[in-house]
Amino acid sequence: MSADLTAGIHDLSVATTQYVLTHETLARQTGADVAKYHKGIGQQSMSVPAADEDIVTMAATAAAPILARHGSDRIRTIVFATETGIDQAKAAGIYVHSLLGMPSATRVVELKQACYSGTAALQFALGLVHRDPSRQVLVIAADSSKYELGSSGEATQGAAAVAMLVAADPALIRLDNTSGLFTADIMDFWRPNYLTTALVDGQESISAYLQAVEGAWKDYTEQGGRSLADFGAFCYHQPFTKMAYKAHRHLLQYHGHDVDEADVVRAVGRTTGYNSVIGNSYTASMYLGLAALLDGSDELTGQSVGFLSYGSGSVAEFFAGDVVPGYRTHLRTDQHRAAIDRRADIDYATYRALHQRSFPTDGGDHATPRETTGPYRLAGLSGHKRIYEPR
Ligand code: CAA
Repeated sequence: MSADLTAGIHDLSVATTQYVLTHETLARQTGADVAKYHKGIGQQSMSVPAADEDIVTMAATAAAPILARHGSDRIRTIVFATETGIDQAKAAGIYVHSLLGMPSATRVVELKQACYSGTAALQFALGLVHRDPSRQVLVIAADSSKYELGSSGEATQGAAAVAMLVAADPALIRLDNTSGLFTADIMDFWRPNYLTTALVDGQESISAYLQAVEGAWKDYTEQGGRSLADFGAFCYHQPFTKMAYKAHRHLLQYHGHDVDEADVVRAVGRTTGYNSVIGNSYTASMYLGLAALLDGSDELTGQSVGFLSYGSGSVAEFFAGDVVPGYRTHLRTDQHRAAIDRRADIDYATYRALHQRSFPTDGGDHATPRETTGPYRLAGLSGHKRIYEPR
């Protein structure tokens, strides 16, 4: 591995769902004061997948523009990160590989460790690029977060995919080799194979996250990482956007700093624009934070960005990167805003029906209703096989 080689995020593309449920609509149903959602957790609305959308359709929608711009000749690996797996054996990335017509000489694999695995996929990709800088890796993080109807987690659902092209001499973010790591065996959030909704101990999950911030940062400094003052912005995992503020306050307090709220807003405020309207997209969430930061109006060239990736259970990693000069010409800001604006507002009854929808398990032929206006759809199930098609 060459110490001089720079590698990082060369392109980044976001996709989300057909539908959106606002927190006003949810509050009318739950009886909660809407300010609890808007101010308390920092969420305005959440993306809801249509009957014919899932992690594969969102992932293909996010990745297609990357292939259209760069081709697939140099991509020999797809790493798909998710905790909304659709099969216990087959990697979801293989369906994306097929929908996008990628070459057979491709390695495809799926990674899991709650919301952290998008970062595991990125690190996997960086290792491959350092081994052969002529190659690029397609990293996809896609999830649909789902809690039981009527539970306190319900307000923190959402769905999105982020596709990233990882390459040498990247156009967007150069990433450092130094990382801070943390793992602890904690049951703060989990989903047994037989459940379609996650189980969570809400307050325990927040303290587990904060403990992981501290642990990952401590290791990062012990590994010779940069100092806190070097960073212009921090992208935290955002199960709800207020969590990023809590995490940053905690990091400042760990350093013995008095917390100045204006500093906290400066550090994380620009990363929350997409997450506040999309909701928790688990593995994709921190990278939606990066997309919002880059797509915002501030010029970031040369600024250092700190990343804190957290996955319940729990694993965390702190790492850093620099925004590359000229990055603005490579952004997909209009595409990202269009993906958010395309969503159709749904009422609570429609959301509830989608939430309760499940596939029959009899192995028969079951077509899904045509709902998405996106480029790919889940056409149905036949003989226990998921059938995808371009729309
Ligand atoms: N006006 C303004 N603020 C209000 C309010 C009002 N009327 N009513 C309540 N609030 C505030 C509360 O004071 C609280 O703020 P603080 O945290 O700053 O004290 C906030 O709104 C939330 O209120 P509660 O704690 O009473 O809310 P809750 O009990 O309904 O649960 C939650 C909130 C724990 C986040 C819950 O939504 C949940 O369990 N979510 C899923 C788990 C989760 O996201 N955990 C985060 C860490 S784990 C992780 O990051 C991995 C992952 O992706 C899941």
